[in-house]
Amino acid sequence: MLTLREALADAEKRGVALGHFNISNIEGLHGVWNAARALKLPVVIGVSEGERDFIGVRQCVALIKSLREGENYPIFLNADHSYSVERVKEAIDAGFDAVIFDGAELPLAENISKTRDCVSHARACGREVLVEGELGYIGKSSKLLDTLPEGAAQNAESFTSPEEAARFVKETGVDLLAPAVGNIHGMLKHSKDPHLDISRIKAIREAAGVPLVLHGGSGTPDEDFVAAIKAGMPLVHISTELRVAFRDALKLALQEDPEEVVPYKIMRGAVSAIEAATTARLKLFNSLL
Ligand code: G3H
Ligand code: ZN
Repeated sequence: MLTLREALADAEKRGVALGHFNISNIEGLHGVWNAARALKLPVVIGVSEGERDFIGVRQCVALIKSLREGENYPIFLNADHSYSVERVKEAIDAGFDAVIFDGAELPLAENISKTRDCVSHARACGREVLVEGELGYIGKSSKLLDTLPEGAAQNAESFTSPEEAARFVKETGVDLLAPAVGNIHGMLKHSKDPHLDISRIKAIREAAGVPLVLHGGSGTPDEDFVAAIKAGMPLVHISTELRVAFRDALKLALQEDPEEVVPYKIMRGAVSAIEAATTARLKLFNSLL
């Protein structure tokens, strides 16, 4: 079976991307899993600090392991956006396949030294664990937005620079880099999210020398996804779109049958809605539309 590093290299070579989907519960996992398996595509499950606390850090590992080993299937687990070195180390020690230290809001020197610490821990753990670093602030929450997140990079001057990206990768040794290139966490309620700076993505990919990760995928215009993936982003994160699908389907189920009390019946529609949202994104990322 392909490792995550190999799956990413293969995707980048083919100009497609792996989907990284955040989950908060077993319904989310089943929705994403059903979609990926039906399309026979490798997939990454992401859990933020809050999401993995809700499921349980070691339980996340056990769930993904059971699917991967049960069907010899390339499904991988990422500890998404950790804001302390301790939380990164906890995930590495628990058995995650990939981790992210999110030092985007820290001064550059501190971001570099803490990310480097995470890389050293990953290299010493006896397994291959990919480490991703963050450079450039794109907001923090996967939610519906009325306006762009305060402080998020929104123009060429505040986007991640190729020079800084090169320095960051060289000094930390990260395997993957998440830049700010017009992307934002969360999605605007009343319009598509801003366009991505495709030429900046190309320049950062070239300077950094490692694959780039597109965070804040929800709400991104379709044509920007395709161009960004081809420019060097073989991994795309989607969260808010799945959260909205879950919320809407759950609301509908409760409205349609207020007497129903069986959780697995109430939740069926939510699993299907997450599956449908994931399928649409996976098809786009893999030119299957
Ligand atoms: O790490 C998670 C993501 O970057 C998701 O962002 O909620 O805008 O899809 P999103
Ligand atoms: Zn993110």
